[in-house]
Parts: sequence; C-alpha cells; structure tokens
Amino acid sequence: MFASPDDFSRAETLHKELNRHNHLYYVLDAPEIPDAEYDRLFAELVELERKYPELQSVDSPTQRIGAPPLPEFSEFAHRAPMLSLNNAFSDEEIEAFDRRIRETLDTHAIEYNMEPKFDGLAINLVYEQGVLVAGATRGDGSTGENVTANLRTVNAIPLRLNAPHPPEFLEVRGEVLMLRKDFELLNASQREKGEKTFANPRNAAAGSLRQLDSRVTAQRRLSFFAYGWGTAAGVTLPLTHSAMMEQLAAWGFPLTQLRATGIGVEGLLRYYRQIGEQRDSLPFDIDGVVYKVNSLAQQTTLGFVSRAPRFAIAHKFPAQEAMTEVLDIDVQVGRTGAITPVARLNPVFVGGVTVTNATLHNEDEVRRKDVYIGDTVVVRRAGDVIPEVVSVVPDKRPATARAFVMPTICPVCGSHIVKSPEEAVARCSGGLYCSAQRKQALLHFASRRAMDIEGLGEKLVDQLVERELLHTPADIYRLTMEQLASLDRMGEKSALNLLAAIEASKNATLPSFIYALGIRNVGEATAKDLSYHFGTLENLLQAGAEDLTAVSEVGEVIAQSILQFLAEPHNREVIRQLLAAGIHWPVVEKLSSTQANLSGKTFVLTGTLPGMSRDEAKSLIEGQGGKVSGSVSRKTDYVVAGAEAGSKLEKALELGITVIDQDQLIALIEQSKQQD
Ligand code: IVH
Repeated sequence: MFASPDDFSRAETLHKELNRHNHLYYVLDAPEIPDAEYDRLFAELVELERKYPELQSVDSPTQRIGAPPLPEFSEFAHRAPMLSLNNAFSDEEIEAFDRRIRETLDTHAIEYNMEPKFDGLAINLVYEQGVLVAGATRGDGSTGENVTANLRTVNAIPLRLNAPHPPEFLEVRGEVLMLRKDFELLNASQREKGEKTFANPRNAAAGSLRQLDSRVTAQRRLSFFAYGWGTAAGVTLPLTHSAMMEQLAAWGFPLTQLRATGIGVEGLLRYYRQIGEQRDSLPFDIDGVVYKVNSLAQQTTLGFVSRAPRFAIAHKFPAQEAMTEVLDIDVQVGRTGAITPVARLNPVFVGGVTVTNATLHNEDEVRRKDVYIGDTVVVRRAGDVIPEVVSVVPDKRPATARAFVMPTICPVCGSHIVKSPEEAVARCSGGLYCSAQRKQALLHFASRRAMDIEGLGEKLVDQLVERELLHTPADIYRLTMEQLASLDRMGEKSALNLLAAIEASKNATLPSFIYALGIRNVGEATAKDLSYHFGTLENLLQAGAEDLTAVSEVGEVIAQSILQFLAEPHNREVIRQLLAAGIHWPVVEKLSSTQANLSGKTFVLTGTLPGMSRDEAKSLIEGQGGKVSGSVSRKTDYVVAGAEAGSKLEKALELGITVIDQDQLIALIEQSKQQD
C-alpha cells in the first residue's frame, strides 16, 4: 500500500506544526500547546510514517528519537575551519587588544559584540537548502567527528531552517551544553541506577553527545546556543555580527539573552564585570566572555594570526577547577554535630583564592568519589561556595595511597559518632557537652547576622569555653570585667569594648534572636518567616506542629527541628535566661496591604544578599507570583539590592524605582503569603 495524497499532506502539516511547536518550546521558551497535545500530534506522525515509510524525511521531528548504534564515529571535514580564540586574563590584555585593533583600523572607537563564553562543546551544523544534513564536533578545527545522529536528537537544533528561501549552504557554529538543572537531574538518575556520575555539566554534555547509540543521547537533555557561522553560500550577509546573529535567530536558532554590544574598552570591561556578577546564578556554566569586532568589514580587514582571529578574544574568568593532591582526610565537627570529612590539600589557587581544604560532604560521598589519601583530585570552588572535591584523577594514584576510615568517636569530645538511617551525615552525640558544638553555637550566636557581638570571635570563644566561663549563650551576659581581664591578650580597653558590644547586642530584632538560637534547619530566611508569621516569641514558643507547617516555606523537617529544640528543657531555660538578661526587640512591623501581593510585580536582584542566594530570592518571589528580570527598566517595580550592588542600583535610583533590601523583601513576601 502506498500513501495517498491526503496522507502526504497530513504528514507535511504534522511536520510543520511539530517543528514549529518544538521551536516555540525549546528555543523561545513560549509553548502554545500543552505537552499532551504535542505528544498526540507526534504519535499521529509516528504512526503515519510507520505505515508509509516513504513519508519519512531527514527533517521529520520523529528523527529526534535516535538511531541504531554506530560502530564508531566517522571523520568529518569542516568546509570552513573552526578557529580557536586567544585568551586574556587581565584588563591590561583587553586594553592592548582594543589598542591593536584601533591602530590597525586607524579608528577612535570600536563597536564590539559581547557574549558569554559557553563552557560546553563546539559544534558545526551543516544545512543544505535549509535542511540539516550533518553535524560534527570541532576536533582539531579542520576535521571533527560526525555526530549527526546525536545532534538530531537535540531539540533546540532546527532540523530545517525557518526560511522560505534558505541559503544554499550554511555552516552554523555554536555550543552544545547541559543546563545545570539538567546536569543535577542526570547525576541523580545515574546515581539511582548505580551508574557513573559526571564531574561537571561540560563532561556530561560531552559524554552525552559522544554516544555511539544516539538513542542514549536522546534521553539526555542537551541544549544548544549558536554563536557564529562558517561558510554561508547563497545568502547576502548583513553588515555586523550582531545582525547576522539576529538572522540566525529568525532561522530558528537559539541565542543567549546575555548578548550585548558595547563601545571601546570601557564597554568591554563593564560587560565583563556584569556577567561575572551573574556567573554563579546563570542556568549554565560559562568560563569567560567573548568580544568580537561587530563590523564584518572590519573583521575582514583584521584577519587572522595562525588559527585565531585578530578581531575576537576570550576574556576568561578565574578558573573554578584545579588539580592538587590530598595530603590527608580528617573530619570536622559542625555546630549541629554534623561530622564532615574534609580533604587537606596541597594549597592550590582556584576560583580566585588559595584553597587548602575541600569538603567531601559525608562518608558515602568519599566512597562514591573513591577518594584516597595521596590521590590527585580536581577541586572546584564556584563563587562563595565551600570548595569541594569533584573527582579523582585515577591514573595519578600512588602505590602509597590509603583509604579514609571514618572515626567512630568524635575527635573533639570523645562521644560516639552516630548515624541515623534517614540522613547521609553522621553526627557527634555529645551536644552542648561537645566543645566543638558549644564553641560553634556560641560563635553563631555572636555572629554579625545573629546577635552581632563585635569582638567575640573564635580565639576568644575558644579561651572562654576552655576556661569554663561559657557554657551556653546566656553565660555571655554574665561575663565580668575581672574575668575578661584575666584572659590572654585582653587589655582593659578591649575588655571594656567587648562588654559594651555585649550590652549593645541586647537591643536585638526578633528574627536575629530566633536565628541566633541555632536551631537546626532554621536559617536567617526561615527565622524571618517565623517572625513575620508569629509576630511574637511567645507565639512561636507555644506553636505546635500544625501551627509551624502553616508558615509557608516551613515543612515537616523544619517544624520537627523547631519542636525538638524547644522540647529540650535546657534550651527553654537558655531562652528564659537570655530574656532575663535584658535582650529585647521592637514589635514586629507588618507592611500595609497595598504593598503586598507580588503578582504582576517585576523584581530585579542586584549585589549579594546577606542571607540568601539569588536563586533562593528568585524562587521566593516567583512563589508569590512575582517576576524576576535581569535588567532594570521603567517597568521594574522593585530593585532588591545587596552588598556591592552596581550599575543596576544606579539605574534604579535614576529611574526612581523603589529599592528594597533583603529584610524588606522577606517582609513583602510574608505579607503577600498572608493574603493568599
Ligand atoms: S567564537 C572565530 N563565541 O570557545 C571565533 N566561541 O577558543 C570562533 N566558545 O571551542 C569562536 N563560547 O566552542 C565563540 N560565544 C562564543 C563562544 C565560543 C564558547 C568556545 C568555542 C571554541 C572556543 C574557541
């Protein structure tokens, strides 16, 4: 049986529709139909093509599901070579780059196209008469591996250009990568299946793309961003790189929203700092930014040196990963008694600082990553995150390497280390008896975002605990001049200052007091949620499980932690003593209702918030129906500014937009929740 003209036209309609919905979903992030409807259309096409294989074509959306495995990848010669970029690490190198270009072109100011440097895999896509016919990795720049079947499974890559008169021949250059969230999901699923996990999103993307069985690739969520082109025949090129990028977008290619143009070296460096600030909160890894002279005519004049263009340069961010040796693995006892294995490292410069320790999280993690003392490991430090051991370099394991043995006794107080089946961490059972926990509980209590007792730092707490002068936070308020003066390196002046700081800390706020108590799982944000919800400490002290879980953002786990803490008579006694010492706070203020309800409100986050990451702030806002945008405009309702807020804050002030801080944001959110 052959397909009828009706079947042909139905298959063609389905083709077009599915490709259009695919583009709406994966490239524009703006689906028009529910997933189930897409699946229904897809199933209809699969059935038609099964009945009449002659209806199947290379750009059919059904081709995205993968093909039978290949014995090996074939070689693929790129029509135009895939070049590399020169790297720059300092502002001076960028100044020199711009100066050279101005001198060569004999002009005053250059317009640059600026974009992130994606940390993925470079890919060449070949379109003939608008249809994807091949795709390959970069390889040595001239010849790569033919990974066409795998690339067809990447939903963001158009199988056919959206153009009535496509170019005869077109090479599109871009990067295949894995979003951080998809990387986390993949690793979680690999772990569940007992299969090997990937060290970072780049490795995961490479591993997924270089599968001989493209059906495996189809199961992985890969993304793609175009950043350039190679040979383009049968099309008139526009005048600038950015205009050509717009042309690629019109043909259906995904581009990053982070592209911009800028003038002169000031424009470049401003962009570098802006993107650097956002680096940790982006959905994907980047390792720098790329500047390209925008005018294609100027690019041609500048030309190339060996295999890199003179018109472009990569301005790299500090590397977030480095290799070093594990000198030892020991354990640290946390404030809550958590026992964390820590790798002591040969000092290494990574993420902008010298790192000597990296966390191994817990015993399971040490085994899973198979880290031995003596191993060479990859260490990662991203943003303010605690440095961690990512993976071992197996080839470098010396014969003398030894396995780590988890202690059974707390190294600080000698109590047993216990491990409950529900959690991965082991804990010291010593509680306040364990001076590690006592010291850290006291340090936490005195810390800036808790009771803010200036001068009560680590060395002093160590001494006070060791001399048995401090057992609980309430003891802080009983310290006398005489006791303080007896300590090492404590003059009369510093003793007086400390007493004054202790006195001043009595003037507290309810959220900082709750946070200072050091209840497990109650961070600053939760302490604020609790304060705004209950209004007074008495209400919180009387709350039952149901009252607690009624606070949005407070689930079973946090509620249990609070109840367990308050069930200890000893903890209630400390609270009583603290209040008796004179700690007090102003009545918790509620915002007027006109300021609440975040739906339809647009927020812009800038700078570092003291108690939450950008992602946390974003999800809090979105949880209440608000929107978070990357740039300030007249449409912005609030700019949430933290430490070192830069140009966005300036712009907000210029436009007269309301600027709030983290506390005001939390208050807004609490208020909005209570209206729900
Ligand atoms: S342009 C002629 N733009 O960097 C210039 N490359 O060293 C060709 N890369 O492996 C490259 N993001 O995969 C360009 N926005 C971007 C990029 C980018 C990442 C990678 C590319 C290549 C390497 C070049």
